[in-house]
Amino acid sequence: MNGRFEGLVAIVTGAAGGIGMATALRLGTEGAKVALIGRGGDTLSAVEDALRAQGAVGRGFVCDVSDEAAVETTTAAVVAAWGRLDAVVNNAGMMLFKPLQDYSGAEWQQVLGVDLMGAVHFTRQAFLHMKEGGAIVNVASVHAAMTTPLVAPYAAAKAAMLSLTRSASIEGKALGIRANAVLPGAVDTPMLWSNPNLKSGAERLDPADVGKPEEVAAAIAFLAAPEARFVTGASLAVDGGRLAKL
Ligand SMILES: NC(=O)c1ccc[n+]([C@@H]2O[C@H](COP(=O)([O-])OP(=O)(O)OC[C@H]3O[C@@H](n4cnc5c(N)ncnc54)[C@H](O)[C@@H]3O)[C@@H](O)[C@H]2O)c1
Repeated sequence: MNGRFEGLVAIVTGAAGGIGMATALRLGTEGAKVALIGRGGDTLSAVEDALRAQGAVGRGFVCDVSDEAAVETTTAAVVAAWGRLDAVVNNAGMMLFKPLQDYSGAEWQQVLGVDLMGAVHFTRQAFLHMKEGGAIVNVASVHAAMTTPLVAPYAAAKAAMLSLTRSASIEGKALGIRANAVLPGAVDTPMLWSNPNLKSGAERLDPADVGKPEEVAAAIAFLAAPEARFVTGASLAVDGGRLAKL
């Protein structure tokens, strides 16, 4: 493994498991100091231990990404601890499953608050703290482009995340900050298997269409790394070709 992130500091939200943990391990083993962001109750210490076991450095920070003040305080704490901020991976996410007519406004706000505004808050802090060479990677979803029943707020949040990525890429250019997005397809994490559409059989998955968290982490790491310096405003599907299929 090379050290593409040697000397750099990264924030990974939703780092307690799944794609976030795989990303933290990837960036950490390639040299980054990694701030592991999770909700209260998330087992961030297990991720700290996993990083330490591989000779990497990570520290857990409890922070609800939908809480702007908490995001500001947490980012300041990361910069105070390690002196800089080079990469932010907006990965924290949640889903609700309901027919469109059953979603209350509060439930829309809840999903948009985490899946979209969490990324908005960390993008703002990234712009305030990053120097030239900084990179933001937003973990959207294939649901940003196509979707299934029952997940309207999630699909809307993920689509808006691509728009946020475009805005951040054009406004970030003068500051030397890049912004890109990945659109994972089905990935073998707890979030995938808790999907009631899959449990009920309403949505079927070919096992060949299910990727590993590490495969998404590899794409995130490329977009976050200095070697991707000419890649900004891009949306990269990491879906085993699902979006390409008619
Ligand atoms: N698994 C898939 O098939 C799939 C597909 C497409 C996109 N994604 C996206 O990938 C990202 C990671 O999902 P995953 O599959 O690893 O699932 P996951 O449930 O393992 O990870 C989501 C993480 O976000 C954290 N989180 C949720 N709300 C939070 C909040 N308010 N503040 C801080 N942390 C919070 C959770 O604690 C959890 O650790 C999500 O944004 C998800 O939408 C996943």
